Amino acid sequence: VDADGTRVFALDAQAGATEFEPGESSDTWGFNGRYLGPTIVAKRGEHVRVDMTNSLDEPTTVHWHGMHLPAEMDGGPHQMVEPGGSWSPEWDIDQQAATLWYHPHPHGETEDHVSRGLAGMFLVQDDAEAALALPREYGVDDVPVIVQDTGFSAEGEQEANPRGYAGGLGDELIVNGTRGPYLDVHDEVVRLRLLNASTARSYAFAWSDGRPMELIGTDGGLLEAPVELDHVRLSPGERAEVLLRVTPGEEVVLQSRMTPEIAALVGPVAATNGGTDSFDVLQVRAADELDPAPAVPEQLNSIPAFDEAEVVTTRTFELNDSFEINGEAMDMGRIDETVTVGTLERWVVENATSVPHSFHVHDVQFRVASIDGAAPPPELAGWKDTIFTEPETEYELLMRFEDYSDPDTPYMYHCHLLWHEDQGMMGQFAVV
Ligand code: C2O
Ligand code: CU
Ligand code: CU
Repeated sequence: VDADGTRVFALDAQAGATEFEPGESSDTWGFNGRYLGPTIVAKRGEHVRVDMTNSLDEPTTVHWHGMHLPAEMDGGPHQMVEPGGSWSPEWDIDQQAATLWYHPHPHGETEDHVSRGLAGMFLVQDDAEAALALPREYGVDDVPVIVQDTGFSAEGEQEANPRGYAGGLGDELIVNGTRGPYLDVHDEVVRLRLLNASTARSYAFAWSDGRPMELIGTDGGLLEAPVELDHVRLSPGERAEVLLRVTPGEEVVLQSRMTPEIAALVGPVAATNGGTDSFDVLQVRAADELDPAPAVPEQLNSIPAFDEAEVVTTRTFELNDSFEINGEAMDMGRIDETVTVGTLERWVVENATSVPHSFHVHDVQFRVASIDGAAPPPELAGWKDTIFTEPETEYELLMRFEDYSDPDTPYMYHCHLLWHEDQGMMGQFAVV
């Protein structure tokens, strides 16, 4: 914290090396060192600044995924940082407690920069969440689980992912940059913050013994109440907070399991796009003696519905097979949509293709009003900034862009399958 009360963080994008296997070093990128970057934690009401330096030999950016902030601070493709350069965005943290993340956003190179290792979590805390009886001791009973797929050579050196229609897909998982991960737990209840930081792969997370996934939060914050699910599906960019209850000495494995039913949703090209692959994600080992945990509250949050009668503008976004949105590929010089600050908007996202995409909007948390005309399931009833869009399906999203306007600097919306984004499945909107 500096003299005027600003909370300051430092991120240095650098090339380095990571030993995913002892003794086998892979060339990787990372913020402040090896693969990935530090978890940033800040509280609602704080003013933060991130001093970012680029020690790579190519331009990059850092984007604050899920954050409500001025367009100039967003770290999209208009805020490039040259090699040897630096950038110090600052903003007020003004949103509820949530699991956000950060990653580069250079137009055309995002898949490459993220898969090399540039990504990290950004946790927002607030008083309301702090007052709840939820696990919240970072790294002890509140643990980030950053899931990525990659490949390794026989010697254990990391290899680039071969590309399918979805983008690069690896045949092994790493969690928090670790191969074959396990987690020792000493508490009866632990909170896992799942982030799908893969560039292309979607997951269906489930427990090995079939116990329910207890979902408490989505991209933008806590749900109103915990929801029990048999799996949690996350497309690239999405997050989920889940609770796990363990008994002394037991072992349970977080897996990604594709049943034929889920695979069907992942798309008809599932087989060639990894949609049917199953993985062990994280082994959890409970200690023989566990610290007791208080009962999880029945109400976690209050999420008032938007009043659809207040919608001022309805926009349609059609995703097509040529990696375009509304028939156009991303053009850095074209602002596609102009939004009036503070007004309620309805964005109708139509996946007109036969494969899934992942639709993300910067600056805002939205609510899902309907999916093909039907009410969303409970796991999609909370705040979201990224959504898995099933083939040939229409999503109605409600959102309000508040506080910040800037006619000259756009924010982005795009497919979060990063190769699709790089191909141009992205557009720009300005808030005025
Ligand atoms: Cu996570 Cu525009 O990105
Ligand atoms: Cu984003
Ligand atoms: Cu896509």
